[in-house]
Amino acid sequence: MPERSRVAVLISGRGSNMAALIYAARADDCVYEVALVTGDKSDAHGLEVARAEGIAVVPLDARSLGPAFWGKLQHALESAGIDLIALAGFMRIIPDDFLAEWEGRIVNIHPSLLPKHKGLKTHEACLAAGETATGATVHIVSPDLDSGEILGQVKVAVLPSDTPETLAERVLIAEHQLYPRVVSQYLSRTNDFEWITERVGDLALALPKTHYQTSHGSPGWKVGSQSSSKFFAIMWNRHHGAESIGVLVKCSGQDEMAQLIEADPDIYFRPAYYGPSDWVGITLDRPRVDWEHVSDRCAQSWELVAPRRLLEAGGR
Ligand code: GRF
Repeated sequence: MPERSRVAVLISGRGSNMAALIYAARADDCVYEVALVTGDKSDAHGLEVARAEGIAVVPLDARSLGPAFWGKLQHALESAGIDLIALAGFMRIIPDDFLAEWEGRIVNIHPSLLPKHKGLKTHEACLAAGETATGATVHIVSPDLDSGEILGQVKVAVLPSDTPETLAERVLIAEHQLYPRVVSQYLSRTNDFEWITERVGDLALALPKTHYQTSHGSPGWKVGSQSSSKFFAIMWNRHHGAESIGVLVKCSGQDEMAQLIEADPDIYFRPAYYGPSDWVGITLDRPRVDWEHVSDRCAQSWELVAPRRLLEAGGR
């Protein structure tokens, strides 16, 4: 089982979605663990539940902390090594600089079928609009309220007898099932070969005079003209019984390869059946890949194989 992603749940109140996320994470094959529960109200009922469940809680109070709140929150998240923030009834608008820091790594659940009925009083709005169905949505948090990329939705029928309260109650049941499922799916992308390959491709093709080509069926990237070019990065998809997905890049030789693997055996590997070549593997199906580092290694590999004239022309 690959390493689990670390999720922080941010709440302001009762925290029933938080509890749903915690209980789903108890399944042996769940891809995430709830590593932290925090929020903007130190007396939120959900914090008590989280504590009782043995989850790390950092009580923060935005009312008394004022502007210092966001810095304290950032510190708590960093100290806990958080990969993804799940908002669950967190009643505070997130400032743009905080959002930028966590871009694509904050999700929220909203009790309507977005883009319908954004904001508060969604069930009232749904009934007033005479809808026959509503539901819940999990989305990425972006600067515009309730408007980020939709990751998953579930539909709930509206009964003629529904009041905002009865509807909220049923939608909440749907929310509890939807949220853990969508969080798991979203986090699973870090183990997905296609997703990883796309990210490596973006880095590889950002280097000069590069193009895509397969090598024995594996996606790869070459430098040079189509007629005379050399591979500098090749994807590795659990080949030869190896467990990991990664990318192979050139290093300067056997000494460097041995040093890299010894210093970071969780990150670097010697690709089986490559013999004494200078290809070293970088494991990429992990929640916390340092993509800047991968980018640097791709660039170094590019430099090792790029034709002289490209290097002399200033390279990259
Ligand atoms: C939920 O309805 C959620 O969709 C909305 O706030 C409510 C939080 O409820 N964002 P709980 O605290 O998870 O019970």
